[in-house]
Amino acid sequence: MKPVKVGLLGLGTVGTGVVRIVEAHQEDLQGQVGSPITIEKVLVQNKSKSRNISISSDKLTEDPWEVIRHPEIDVIVEVMGGIGQTKEYILEALSLGKHVVTANKDLMALHGPEILAKAKEHSCDVLYEASVAGGIPIIRTLVEGFSSDRITKIMGIVNGTTNYILTKMSQEGAAYADVLKEAQALGYAEADPTSDVEGLDAARKMTILATLGFHTNVNLEDVSAEGISSVSKDDILYAKRLGYELKLLGIAERQDDLISISVQPTMVKHSHPIASVNGVFNAVYVYGEAVGETMFYGAGAGELPTATSIVADLVAVVKNLKLGVNGKHSGIAFKETRLKTDEQ
Ligand code: NAP
Ligand code: HSE
Repeated sequence: MKPVKVGLLGLGTVGTGVVRIVEAHQEDLQGQVGSPITIEKVLVQNKSKSRNISISSDKLTEDPWEVIRHPEIDVIVEVMGGIGQTKEYILEALSLGKHVVTANKDLMALHGPEILAKAKEHSCDVLYEASVAGGIPIIRTLVEGFSSDRITKIMGIVNGTTNYILTKMSQEGAAYADVLKEAQALGYAEADPTSDVEGLDAARKMTILATLGFHTNVNLEDVSAEGISSVSKDDILYAKRLGYELKLLGIAERQDDLISISVQPTMVKHSHPIASVNGVFNAVYVYGEAVGETMFYGAGAGELPTATSIVADLVAVVKNLKLGVNGKHSGIAFKETRLKTDEQ
């Protein structure tokens, strides 16, 4: 059986998890897709950096084109982060007919339509389950599970770092700066954690969810975002005394032709299940006209939960490769229509 060869861009928190899961679950994965999946080449910034995973040094490269233009690589898994250069790499991979799996919400929220159009042009798949809510399969659920319904609202905690910080401040009285450092050490935070704590990471995720859930093209600049950097221990304490927990909530609502999307610290009544979503966990509520209220819960960041979503996308891509139905998943697409914001 000819192996399916994967090029990995990035071997940090998520990339390491991908290598671990592909190795540990190889037999199961092979059983599902009918051939071995091998990580052929890995792009890193610094080959000599010490790593907490053993990987043959001849697989590592600092030259992106050695991975992207490798003639035997079928699928590129992008877990390096960043926007400008990374977009260039992904567009080149697609123009060479390679399928792409990415965890990059920054890129998908800003350039999703362009990337998916390129994928369509070359009959390639671009899957991005890991870009929202880490290990919760919320993208597949929205696109496939709710295809029969009309979604009216998506609400939840979609950033693990800030939920980790708020939980530790609330339950242990910990200092904001100390817990942020912890979240960084645990691999939850972005390379620049400003996007976590200022609500931008959550805004990017809500952009992706609203685009898919409401079948329209949401612009990130139409999403209002406020983070938790100015939330004090006193704010949390007073909220608690009044019977509330402070949570960073993303809310996307549709009413008739209007859509509003916001991210902000919100007082949540203790009796509401979202008040008990603690630590790095995320929870996403989806409301449909027919189904009513549904809730999805799980680890929102971290090595293995995030890699679970990446490898699931990899399995879907390889199954499509085998069936010769590539490009099918560009159905998880950003539509061309413009969002009507509440300002219009
Ligand atoms: P990370 O730990 O900082 O790892 C980034 C990796 O990419 C490193 O291996 C780094 O190389 C490599 N890299 C970065 N820039 C590069 C460049 N210009 N050229 C070559 N290699 C480069 O990041 P991460 O936490 O794994 O996150 C990766 C992506 O997944 C991001 O888009 C992030 O938003 C997304 N994501 C992360 C999580 C999470 O829990 N961490 C969850 C969901 C999605 P070196 O190792 O040599 O430095
Ligand atoms: N920094 C992000 C978070 C990673 O904390 O939620 C997962 O997308």
